[in-house]
Amino acid sequence: MWGTFIKSVCGNNIEDKAYLIESRLSPIAKELNCDSWQELYYKVKNDISGTLKRKIINAITTNETSFFRDNSPFEMLKYKILPDLIDKRKKTTPSGSDIPIRIWSAACSTGQELYSIAIAIRETVGNLKGYDVRLLGTDISDDVVTKASRGIYGKIEIERGLAPDMLNRYFEKKDSEWKIKDEIRALATFKHINLLESVTFPNKFDIVFCRNVAIYFLTDDRKKLYTNIGKELASDGYLIIGATESLANLCPQFQSFRYLRSVYYQLKR
Ligand SMILES: C[S@@+](CC[C@H](N)C(=O)[O-])C[C@H]1O[C@@H](n2cnc3c(N)ncnc32)[C@H](O)[C@@H]1O
Repeated sequence: MWGTFIKSVCGNNIEDKAYLIESRLSPIAKELNCDSWQELYYKVKNDISGTLKRKIINAITTNETSFFRDNSPFEMLKYKILPDLIDKRKKTTPSGSDIPIRIWSAACSTGQELYSIAIAIRETVGNLKGYDVRLLGTDISDDVVTKASRGIYGKIEIERGLAPDMLNRYFEKKDSEWKIKDEIRALATFKHINLLESVTFPNKFDIVFCRNVAIYFLTDDRKKLYTNIGKELASDGYLIIGATESLANLCPQFQSFRYLRSVYYQLKR
């Protein structure tokens, strides 16, 4: 019952994870005075406002993330992908216009991935003069999108992955927390998007980070995920997936390339 429902609303496969339902949905069942899982299920199914469905998605998704998670994709971004992309875009951008760079963090969780990308760009390109950088972070969970949008992090979050010099350069202290500086925040937009529903953006993305979300999906939804992303990627764009994820035998339209300890994918031409 729950397994099929959760898969249909967000793709996450919890079929053999009864403990997840128990631990993550219990607080909602309690809040709604439900005496059984069945009662909660019917309340959620019959809630036409969609509020309960969103609550369930917020509770069931795993939002684990950190700044510069796994590090090597960010090294690859700085030393391989951005220089290559900028070279290509310089050739096609009319003189006098800013060079466009469009990056999407698909399944961005609480925003650390997108802000790490923004910081990596600043570290590579400097003050961004001459560039039109637009960064999009999306996630299916409203709660994490709201937190990402605020750009405020506690001590433990900051200590996971942010070197002290980066912290001082790109964040400001706000009481006991740290807030991303406005100049970085201004590059980013955050939105609620289910990656298993097809979505069309006005411009294709040069780079898409879609990391550590396919691991929660079964094969059919993994295929759907990367197919949807492929449609929104520029024909010479770059897709970066999680360290334990692979497109092999899933999406023949992509080709993999290795750079040091990382891999990126491009659409076959
Ligand atoms: C483990 S986090 C990964 C965050 C970040 N990409 C990283 O690697 O650090 C997985 C995220 O995927 C989101 N997610 C799960 N299913 C999704 C779906 N169908 N569409 C969009 N986001 C989804 C979750 O809400 C969660 O925030």
